Amino acid sequence: MSRIQLTVNAKRHTVDVDPSTPLLYVLRNDLDLHGPRFGCGLGQCGACTVIIKGAAVRSCVMPVSAVKSEITTLEGLASGTELHPVQKAWIAEQAPQCGFCQNGQILTAKVLLDKNPNPSDDEIRRGMAGALCRCMTYYKVQAAVKRASGLMREARREVKREAAR
Ligand code: FES
Ligand code: FES
Repeated sequence: MSRIQLTVNAKRHTVDVDPSTPLLYVLRNDLDLHGPRFGCGLGQCGACTVIIKGAAVRSCVMPVSAVKSEITTLEGLASGTELHPVQKAWIAEQAPQCGFCQNGQILTAKVLLDKNPNPSDDEIRRGMAGALCRCMTYYKVQAAVKRASGLMREARREVKREAAR
C-alpha cells in the first residue's frame, strides 16, 4: 500500500492504496464518486471516462499511481447548482436510455466541444466513436452534442458581451 495524493474536481485527497489499483476503483470505492462506471474494465467502452489535461481518459486501465494531473469526473462538470451546457443539452434532448454509458458520452462530448466548438455531424460521429452504448442512443447523443455546441457558443458570446459592458 502507498499513500497517493490526487486532485479530483478541485479537491485534494490522500488515499492509501496499492499503486497499481485502477483509478476507477479509487474514484468509486475510496472517494465515493460514482459518475464513472465500470463497463468492460478493458479500456474499450468508455463508461469509466474521466478528463485529465483536457483528454478523455479510461480510468479502468489507468493505475492510480500514474495520475499526475487534476482529474475531472462527471460530478465536477457543474458549477455549483448551474449545470454544464453539455448536461443541460443532455436533459433537453433526453439522451439516455438505461444511462449506464452516459458518463462516458457526456465527458467525451465535453472534451470534443472544448477542442472543436462547432463540430460537423461527421466530426461528432468521429469524436464520439469511442463511447459505446448498448441502448443505441447514438442519434440522441448526436442531437445533444449539437445542442450543447450551440449552448456553449451562446455562453461564450454572453461572456464577451459582459466584458464589453
Ligand atoms: S469500463 Fe473502462 S473502458 Fe469500459
Ligand atoms: S443508455 Fe444504456 S448503455 Fe447507453
